[in-house]
Amino acid sequence: MTSANEAATDLLAPGGKREAPALVVDHLTKRFGPRVAFSDVSFDVAYGEVFGFLGPNGAGKTTTVRTLGTLIAPTSGRASVAGIPLTPRNGQQIRARISIMPESPGLYLRLTVAENLRCFAGLYELADAGGRIERALKAVNLTERANDPCGSLSKGLRQRVALARAILNEPAVLFLDEPTSGLDPVAAREVHELITSLRARGVTIFLTTHRLEEAERLCDRVAILNTTLRLIGRPDELREQLFTRNLEVRTHAPLPDPGRVFAGLKDVESWQQTPSGSYLLAVTDPDAAAPGVARALVGSDADVLSIAESRHSLEDVYLELIDEDVEAKRR
Ligand SMILES: Nc1ncnc2c1ncn2[C@@H]1O[C@H](COP(=O)(O)OP(=O)(O)O)[C@@H](O)[C@H]1O
Ligand SMILES: [Mg+2]
Repeated sequence: MTSANEAATDLLAPGGKREAPALVVDHLTKRFGPRVAFSDVSFDVAYGEVFGFLGPNGAGKTTTVRTLGTLIAPTSGRASVAGIPLTPRNGQQIRARISIMPESPGLYLRLTVAENLRCFAGLYELADAGGRIERALKAVNLTERANDPCGSLSKGLRQRVALARAILNEPAVLFLDEPTSGLDPVAAREVHELITSLRARGVTIFLTTHRLEEAERLCDRVAILNTTLRLIGRPDELREQLFTRNLEVRTHAPLPDPGRVFAGLKDVESWQQTPSGSYLLAVTDPDAAAPGVARALVGSDADVLSIAESRHSLEDVYLELIDEDVEAKRR
């Protein structure tokens, strides 16, 4: 019999490092009748990565998670999940290696935290349920609350119970669908810390979110989805791909003739004065441009306060890419 564990071991190289990516998604499309949930999506996720799947409401994030999590079948395209090809026959084997934390936790509110976990461990037919529950509760810092009814817990704590449930089967790939949606900043921060600690334990995390700062803070790479994949890369790469880079020059007093200082510099493509009185210079390479800018300013007797690269936030990138409202266009 080929067990899920054997399939996983096949992926281990001699040093214990996994060779194949945790997720391979190849031209995947899901339609519901005439409605396209996501279309022609391709990307890979490496083992150990925290991969952010960022997009507005209706972008297709949850449908992607449900598809990769074997809950619904794709319309076309191919994928492999935890090294196993995504086919109806492999569903059970894949599900043994992954876990999904859905948008709403779906806990039994009249049961205690431990009873909920026991119930799900039974449902998944997990061996050593007691040990697993103890480890999961410890991982999410809920050991003390094991005997409290879930109905008595705050939304943030319920989310932690849901996370404990999601790690009961010690998944190689963990799908978290908007894990901090509706949480207050303190509870959201706690979930972030838990994600970081799971990552430190080597769990591959596929995190959907519509929150930019969450993607930027937690993720090694981010894909921006709006039915189709718009962009993929490290948060800092995304900014650089899309925007010219800038040097911001601050001076003690306004320059009498800024054009004369900046216009002749070969690394400076254009310049403008900002409303706050600083100067923003468009450059291709800030490191190459900065020394020449500094010399020119000193040569014109300017009192320079600072010359620094000014970075666009990921929010700029995001808003640029999702300015069309796909959901509103569908009917
Ligand atoms: N079961 C379904 N039947 C029909 N349409 C669906 C179904 N599930 C999702 N959709 C549609 O697919 C699109 C993507 O939805 P979803 O994946 O939930 O987006 P997101 O999670 O990014 O908000 C939406 O237009 C949604 O209405
Ligand atoms: Mg969703």
